[in-house]
Amino acid sequence: MIPRHEPFAFTSKAELLQKAQELGIKLPLMDSISTLFKAISLGEKKMPNRLAVQPMEGFDANQDGSPNELTFRRYRRYAEGGSGLIWFEATSVVPKGRSNPRQLMINAQNLDSFKLLVEKTRQCGYQAFGNSHSIFLVLQLTHSGRFSRPEGKPRPQVAVFNPYLDKEKENVYILSDAELDRLQDIYVEAALLAQEAGFDAVDIKACHGYLLNELLAAHARKSSKYGESFENRIRLIKEVIKRIKDEVSNIDMAVRLSAYDGIPFPYSFGVTSDGSLNIDLKEPKSLIRRLLKHGCSLFNITIGNPFLNPCFGRPFDRPLPGAMLPEEHPLEGVARLIKITGELQREFRDVLFVGTGYSWLRHFFPHVGAAVIKREEASLIGLGRSSLAYPDAPKELMNTGNMDPNKVCITCSRCTELMRGGRVSGCVIRDKEIYGWEYKKLQ
Ligand SMILES: Cc1cc2nc3c(=O)[nH]c(=O)nc-3n(C[C@H](O)[C@H](O)[C@H](O)COP(=O)(O)O)c2cc1C
Ligand code: SF4
Repeated sequence: MIPRHEPFAFTSKAELLQKAQELGIKLPLMDSISTLFKAISLGEKKMPNRLAVQPMEGFDANQDGSPNELTFRRYRRYAEGGSGLIWFEATSVVPKGRSNPRQLMINAQNLDSFKLLVEKTRQCGYQAFGNSHSIFLVLQLTHSGRFSRPEGKPRPQVAVFNPYLDKEKENVYILSDAELDRLQDIYVEAALLAQEAGFDAVDIKACHGYLLNELLAAHARKSSKYGESFENRIRLIKEVIKRIKDEVSNIDMAVRLSAYDGIPFPYSFGVTSDGSLNIDLKEPKSLIRRLLKHGCSLFNITIGNPFLNPCFGRPFDRPLPGAMLPEEHPLEGVARLIKITGELQREFRDVLFVGTGYSWLRHFFPHVGAAVIKREEASLIGLGRSSLAYPDAPKELMNTGNMDPNKVCITCSRCTELMRGGRVSGCVIRDKEIYGWEYKKLQ
C-alpha cells in the first residue's frame, strides 16, 4: 500500500484543493476571510471576532499552581495577537489530579494570581485594539485522571481499566463512587474561584481521555452509579454543570468535548458498538442536549486521545520520536474534525461551537475557517499550535489579510515532546529564545 501520509507542501490554495480532491475530501475553502472578523455574542457578551486560542498547557506554573512569568507572557502574547476568545489551558482542581507538578491549579490561596492574570490579559487586549475589544476568557478546569503526574511520575487514577491505555490491570487505581461524588463539590468550588478571578466562563473539560472524558466511556465500570448506562456515564459532568448553574452566579459554562475518541467499544465514546472505529454521534448529541438544558452554552469540539491516536486530534507532519507515521493523510484528519464539528453545529444551530485542528493548514487556515463559518459548521475557529507559534496571526490577518508562511506552525510535535519530557512547553521553532533552549536540555 502506498503511504498516504505526506508533509505539508502546498504553495497555493489551488494545490491544497487539488490534494483534497485526490483524497476524496470536500474541503470548504473561500478567498474572502471577512467572516472571521464578524463579532459574535454569547448572552450579553460580545466576542470581537471568530478566532479563538485553544487551551495549551505550558507546564510553567509555580509549585502552588499559580501562573509564573512565562504563563503571563503566553497570555499577553495571545491577547496582543488579536484573538476574540482565549481558552485558558487545563487547570487542575486538585493536587492529585495535576498532569505535572507545574500544571496550573486554582485554589483559594492562589486566587489573587489568577485575578491578576485575567486583569492583565484583558488590559493587553484593550491597549492593543481599543475599549470595544473585550476578549472572552474561558478557564479550563480539569482532573487528569489516568494521566495524573502530580510529582512528575505517573499516578493514574481512573474510572475503569482500559486495555488500550493501561499496561497492567493490578496497578490501576480505580476511583470509588464516593471519591467521584466528592469531585462534584471540588469542581463547583473551582468554578466559584474562576468567577471571582474574573473569567467569563469555565470549561468542565471532557476531552482527550482525562477523567471526565473517560467517564463518558465507562461502559465497563460495573455496579457503580458512574458506569455502564448512558445516564450513569454522564452523571458526573451533568451534576457538575447543574450545580454550577445553581451555586455560581455570573459565569457562563462551557465544555471541551471529545465527541469521538477513536477507541473500540466498550472503551469509547462517539464510536459505534460493532468493534470498529466508525463514528457515531448519537451519544455526544444526547449529552450536548442535556448539558444545554442545564445551562451550558459553549462547546469546543475535539476528538481522539493524544496518548493513543494523536493524529485524530492534532494532525501533524512529524510524529513524536519513536512513534509511527499514521496511515492517513493529515488532511483527512483535518477534514474529520471539520465534519464532526459541522454535524454538531448543524444539529444545534443557535449554540456556539468552537472548531479544532486548523494548525496543520498553516497560512491557508483562514480560508478554510472562513468557509466553515460561512457554511455554519462552526461559530469560532480554534487555534492550538498555531497560537503558540504565531500568536499575532489574527492581528496580521485583520491588518493585511495575510499570514507570513515563514512564521507558521510546522506541526513538528516538538512542543508536545517538551510536555512529555516534563519541561515547560511552547514553540521550539518560532519562539526559540525560550523553548529552543528547553528543547536542547531535553536531548
Ligand atoms: C503542547 C500542547 C498542549 C496542549 N494542552 C491542552 C490543554 O491544556 N487542554 C486541551 O483541551 N487541549 C490541549 N492541547 C490540544 C490543543 O488544544 C488542540 O486541540 C490541538 O493542538 C489541535 O489543534 P491545533 O491543530 O490547532 O494545534 C494541547 C496541545 C499541545 C500540542
Ligand atoms: S513546536 Fe512550534 S512549530 Fe512545532 S508543533 Fe509545536 S507550535 Fe508547531
